[in-house]
Amino acid sequence: MFKRYLITSALPYANGPVHIGHLAGVYVPADIYVRYLRLKKRDVLFIGGSDEHGVPITIKARQEGVKPQDIVDKYHTIIKKSFEDFGISFDIYSRTTSKVHYETASGFFKKLYDNGQFIEKTTEQFYDEEVKQFLADRYITGTCPHCSNENAYGDQCEKCGTSLNATDLINPKSTLSGSVPAMRSTKHWFLPLDEYEPFLRKWILEENTNWKTNVYGQCKSWLDQGLQPRAVSRDLDWGIPVPVEGADGKVLYVWFDAPIGYISATKELTPHWEKYWKDKESKLVHFIGKDNIVFHCIIFPAMLKAEGTYILPDNVPANEFLNLEGDKISTSRNWAVWLHEYLEEFKGKEDVLRYVLCANAPETKDNDFTWKDFQTRNNSELVAIFGNFVNRALVLTQKYFEGKVPAVTELQDYDRSALSEISIIKTNVEEALENFRFREALKEAMSLARLGNKYLADTEPWKIFKDQPDRVATILNVSLQISANLAILMEPFLPFTCVKLKGMLNLGTTDWEQIGSTPILSDGHVLNQPELLFEKIEDAVIEAQLNKLQEQKKLNEAKNAKVEPQKPNVSYDEFSKMDIRVGTILEAVKVPKTAKLMQLKVDTGIDVRTIVSGIAEYFSAEELIGKQVTVLVNLEPRAIKGIQSQGMILLAEDKLGKLILVGPNKGTDNGAAVR
Ligand code: MF3
Ligand code: ZN
Repeated sequence: MFKRYLITSALPYANGPVHIGHLAGVYVPADIYVRYLRLKKRDVLFIGGSDEHGVPITIKARQEGVKPQDIVDKYHTIIKKSFEDFGISFDIYSRTTSKVHYETASGFFKKLYDNGQFIEKTTEQFYDEEVKQFLADRYITGTCPHCSNENAYGDQCEKCGTSLNATDLINPKSTLSGSVPAMRSTKHWFLPLDEYEPFLRKWILEENTNWKTNVYGQCKSWLDQGLQPRAVSRDLDWGIPVPVEGADGKVLYVWFDAPIGYISATKELTPHWEKYWKDKESKLVHFIGKDNIVFHCIIFPAMLKAEGTYILPDNVPANEFLNLEGDKISTSRNWAVWLHEYLEEFKGKEDVLRYVLCANAPETKDNDFTWKDFQTRNNSELVAIFGNFVNRALVLTQKYFEGKVPAVTELQDYDRSALSEISIIKTNVEEALENFRFREALKEAMSLARLGNKYLADTEPWKIFKDQPDRVATILNVSLQISANLAILMEPFLPFTCVKLKGMLNLGTTDWEQIGSTPILSDGHVLNQPELLFEKIEDAVIEAQLNKLQEQKKLNEAKNAKVEPQKPNVSYDEFSKMDIRVGTILEAVKVPKTAKLMQLKVDTGIDVRTIVSGIAEYFSAEELIGKQVTVLVNLEPRAIKGIQSQGMILLAEDKLGKLILVGPNKGTDNGAAVR
């Protein structure tokens, strides 16, 4: 057994908020594990923080026209707050722009540099002559050599999913200036991963065969392909400067500095940080998503090995990906359920999301989050089983025994067998948690609620109180003991609920080892008033979420839609037959019993006339009245819904089908001709 635990969770990029994919993959399982260890009274530190360097941050800053520091300040704040509100119980949530981190990461690099552990190499890199900057792969677009997608990025084609090098692209272009980039030589420092290959092969493939198969498999495939020296510096103006002379304009590669962020945060947290990082009796576990495996299992361990004084991770229980309603979660396409929005929209329902994400965690394969499943798990598991059981036990005790725990009169076999299940469940939950099987652990824990629910359904105390009050006393005592056990057992998974439940049971401090042992509630113990632990989620709530996603899907499709192709040419004569004038809308009334039609009175300078226009979905009468517009005045008059329409208002229609009035960009006379 280890003396202490150091648990890290991937540092999220501070270029956007956190979404359910991050939570299911990393933070929910990490938090469950840590809460469990604390309940077992183990010495544990839980480390988190924001990853604030790297190209994604600079891209976001450029898009928004602000400084990288502004971006990371904004998102670090949002992320930190949302984790806190969601009950992710970090001992520290730090950031990689902290002073301690700059010193730690620089110092780490310097030590390896001084020991001659890097190779210096000059390579050819794309360079944008216009903005005088080397270009990260992400800053280059071009045509994908595999699928001919014209908008592939230098590191990956998002259409066919192939990972690329910028030099693979056909017709490469800089996204900064649009110019064709040139090749320029530049010097960088490389960690010779090839030299660490024998060590890594032995350490992972022979000594860590207990790692999850998805993790072990990915490592094996990297190792079998053979490792190459890897650059640990970049030409970029955002990051930690390379602490070597003559390295102006160069910073540490974000994947070099970020994992060192775990060390920096521990340093910030405690002066005893070295015990956790350097003592063989400490167990280091990295919680990450599958796209981080190579960095945590190969590159960071090689860095730690090179440094020489650190321990290596004991386990890296990486998860696969969570999809959303059948599509890959994506920050750039805004296809996600954002944590900070969930917390606003589902106040007091933190545990529902924790429950669903754990029950459905992508532990061995990618999984799908659907709102329907969210609703079902809430309504038919949390409400109908856990909540229902606890509520019945408490309400019946209020009703029959004035809210005091009734003493057991006589235990029957059925009672005994129910109670004896508890310690079996405890062992199963522990065994699953210790081995990072969180779905199974939750399922086991829920089986205690199921057992309680069934126990009450089978014994039906409400039917027999009149004739057998003693029997009911025993049944309720057993039910309350099960509830108290649940309040302890469920804490790692549903911390908010357990606080509430412990309050209702009037339970003070509890101990994990109480689970399944002696009665937790003594005879005559006074309970508090019961409240509902969970509430039903109605269809309308789910539909609102689905509509929100549907809207996003439409937006994304519109973004990808092509501009309408040009129509065949017309002669000047044909064009000049159209009489287009500036006019002013004087009146606007919706045409009754239609969704789209608006009846307008328009002053065309020639006359005041009636025009019927299909714009009612986009404009209210108030916002139309007084507007100057352009009018095709000599369009053949026609009757629309029985109203004579004399002409047509000209409108622009965007990719989403949204209509925009086309008027003169300065006030002018009605009747002014457009030509
Ligand atoms: N920011 C990275 C990501 O979101 C994770 C960094 S983890 C650390 O994929 F090891 F670098 F800290
Ligand atoms: Zn492609």
